[in-house]
Amino acid sequence: MNKEKVVVVGMGYIGLPTSLALTNGGIDVVGYDLDARKIETLKKGQLTFKEDGLMDLFEEAKKKGISFTSNIKDLVNENFFIISVPTPYDKDSKKIDPSYVVSAFSSIYSICPEGSIIVIESTISPGTIDKTVRPLVKEKHVNLVHCPERIIPGNMVYELKHNSRTIGADDAEIGERVKKVYSSFCEGNIVITSIKVAEMTKVVENTFRDINIAYANELVKICEKAGVDVYEVIRISNAHPRVNILQPGPGVGGHCISVDPWFLVGDYPMEANLIKQARLINDSMPEYVLTRVSKVAEKNNISFDRIGIYGLTYKENVDDFRESPSLQMLEFRQQTCSKSFVSFDPMLETKIVEGQEMDFKTFLSKVDLVIVMQNHKHLLDNKNLLKGKIVFDTKNCLDIDGVYKY
Ligand SMILES: NC(=O)c1ccc[n+]([C@@H]2O[C@H](COP(=O)([O-])OP(=O)(O)OC[C@H]3O[C@@H](n4cnc5c(N)ncnc54)[C@H](O)[C@@H]3O)[C@@H](O)[C@H]2O)c1
Repeated sequence: MNKEKVVVVGMGYIGLPTSLALTNGGIDVVGYDLDARKIETLKKGQLTFKEDGLMDLFEEAKKKGISFTSNIKDLVNENFFIISVPTPYDKDSKKIDPSYVVSAFSSIYSICPEGSIIVIESTISPGTIDKTVRPLVKEKHVNLVHCPERIIPGNMVYELKHNSRTIGADDAEIGERVKKVYSSFCEGNIVITSIKVAEMTKVVENTFRDINIAYANELVKICEKAGVDVYEVIRISNAHPRVNILQPGPGVGGHCISVDPWFLVGDYPMEANLIKQARLINDSMPEYVLTRVSKVAEKNNISFDRIGIYGLTYKENVDDFRESPSLQMLEFRQQTCSKSFVSFDPMLETKIVEGQEMDFKTFLSKVDLVIVMQNHKHLLDNKNLLKGKIVFDTKNCLDIDGVYKY
């Protein structure tokens, strides 16, 4: 049998690592993206974002002949596609915004031959394929499949290989063919089910995380009022054999956990009550941090202009800042007093917000109080430089004298 050839549509945080893993697993891969600049960068052998171990995967994939294009005409003879484009939500209706998926699917459908396999890997709300993709299939039959991704930035290379996965397909034989392609690199268990179950499981998994984080965050507020140390409460409670409370933080960001639960709230507004509350609790945290920091600033006689934010990304040691709690905090400050904070993030090579400093020492020279919003390794390695500063550590990552925590 001929080697399987796959086109991956969307060279972002998910599509690129998947393409590299497939290539290294022995599949012929073409990486396709509308963004011609991104494709040019990849063709030059450069990565478009930072991720541990990704360059090694890229080097191997280059040797194995991965190719990239931004020209859809190059794909006319292909018959196996994996779509990994963004799936944001509509901030008013809370429903999924399927426009990227619809547009990517339509362009592929217009050029692919009868019988092609089109896998949607983007996270989609339950029923999206039936409601928005299937109606686009006219006389030309194609096989629709959903194979959501579970990897986490910061540990993508390991998780791509070891996580288990779900494949939703209309037809078991097609499901098996897709499973074979993913098995080229995935050593985890691969379950085949219906499309709608696959859609539901992905969103439900991320919602589970959001609810559990919200519980820890709500405990922060309760323990503050009760005058007890939330970390001690969580540590002691977790000694119970059936309790495992997560660690609180400054909120939830990223493209998945802070977005996907809204899909359920948007589609099932009467039923998704706990899910909605969890989202609201997590979204309230950046503002709550500011309230706590204000008290510390007042106590230490520090002006708001001398407060700085450390960490703009939504997770430690990654350069992805989408929906991050720091950006939510900055937006809140802009709305309330049209001002920004001085900020710094060692993972970012370009300025993304007003007031952002690119050098840690310059940042420190401009502030008296540092709000630690992210526990990058950089901070742990340079914590001695915080000497003389007032620090509010929302991540419970610093063991230095006098640091304020929840
Ligand atoms: N980032 C994560 O950690 C993560 C984890 C699991 C699942 N997901 C899901 O994976 C999907 C992709 O997310 P991402 O983080 O990789 O997004 P991303 O924004 O990093 O990348 C998407 C890419 O798709 C390209 N694109 C958009 N429309 C296109 C089209 N019509 N044709 C070709 N290319 C097109 C964009 O130019 C971009 O390069 C989303 O549904 C997301 O929810 C993301």
